[in-house]
Amino acid sequence: MKCILVTGAAGFIGSHTTLVLLNAGYKLYLLDNFSNSSPIALSRVAKLSSLSKKEAQERISIIDGDVRDFSLLDNVFSTSKRNGERINSVIHFAGLKAVGESFEKSLDYWDNNVGGTITLLKVMVKNSCRNIVFSSSATVYRPKNEAALIETDPISPINPYGITKATIEKMLADIGGCQSTASAQQNSSKGWRIACLRYFNPAGAHPSGEIGENPKNIPNNLLPLINQVGIGRNKSLTVFGNDWPTPDGTGIRDYVHVMDIAEGHKAALDILLSSKPQLLIMNLGSGKGTSVLKLIHIFEVTNGIKIPYEIGKRREGDSAISLADPSQALKYLQWEAKRSIEDICRDAWNWQYKNPIGYL
Ligand code: WQD
Repeated sequence: MKCILVTGAAGFIGSHTTLVLLNAGYKLYLLDNFSNSSPIALSRVAKLSSLSKKEAQERISIIDGDVRDFSLLDNVFSTSKRNGERINSVIHFAGLKAVGESFEKSLDYWDNNVGGTITLLKVMVKNSCRNIVFSSSATVYRPKNEAALIETDPISPINPYGITKATIEKMLADIGGCQSTASAQQNSSKGWRIACLRYFNPAGAHPSGEIGENPKNIPNNLLPLINQVGIGRNKSLTVFGNDWPTPDGTGIRDYVHVMDIAEGHKAALDILLSSKPQLLIMNLGSGKGTSVLKLIHIFEVTNGIKIPYEIGKRREGDSAISLADPSQALKYLQWEAKRSIEDICRDAWNWQYKNPIGYL
């Protein structure tokens, strides 16, 4: 049985990916410090999976800990060896992820995101584990409003969050003995198998409504904010500008269902483990753009509820359009987003409606 360490496993994308990996037969060590997530997410993942309670207990080990703790991480690898199934890959989600917050707390972002990854890589090297799927981001790109972003586009992040993600991609390219991070696929001269997955706008929830996006503080992202208006926690939504160079003047983004993103991680892992040492850098996006006003409308029609909003000022650091060209992920991972923007709106609301205050 293939044995994997998932860092940040209780988070939004981590929990959905953990479910996909469990159902695919993996043995999982799940690490999370629960600073921005809940252990309830992991117990619900176990219940949602196709495993019996006993099987889930045998296949899941949960570690409450921080990816910056070298001895704790090293002990996880030793434990897996003692249990007879060596961890042979890591999926690395653990990190801070709010663009706005990263301006106020940049040192925390460097410490958690970059420092945590350095510690993780040191432990992997010590334990001869050289397979990693990394949670990267479309924020590594310089905004490109006139067309879809491709993996060879310039890397020029405009916020500390994106800079940490671009730095980690560069670290991974260096450890893999690869030339740069500006190509979708290159061989690794040092025997590493690495995938950097650049998410566009992950959104939605598992269709059961049992797991979903559960921001601990005030959410940063549009869908959770729309959800909070729908559930009555906020009176209305502020649309950040309607004077952008777009058809209706509001920001256009590439929303991609979190279950598609989760399946993209499994696809990347499967490809890495069945092929030569290499570095894959892939956009995970739908390739379709939706404006803020359009999203509000689709959310209202799909769920039969009204979302009051008012037009406000532009938000610092925003761009008009962020859109993926996902063709490389289709070519190298045989992956593409299958779920629609209506699926995203329906599943996001179903989660929020069933969990008005998130994980209790
Ligand atoms: C989407 C659109 C806003 C809130 C995200 C995240 C992060 C990263 C990159 C992976 C924009 C508008 C928002 C509101 C609004 N992905 N908006 N009113 O800014 O694209 O960034 O993608 O790492 O997940 O940083 O996402 O959801 O904040 O904004 O009008 O109250 O909604 O202007 O056009 P963004 P977002």
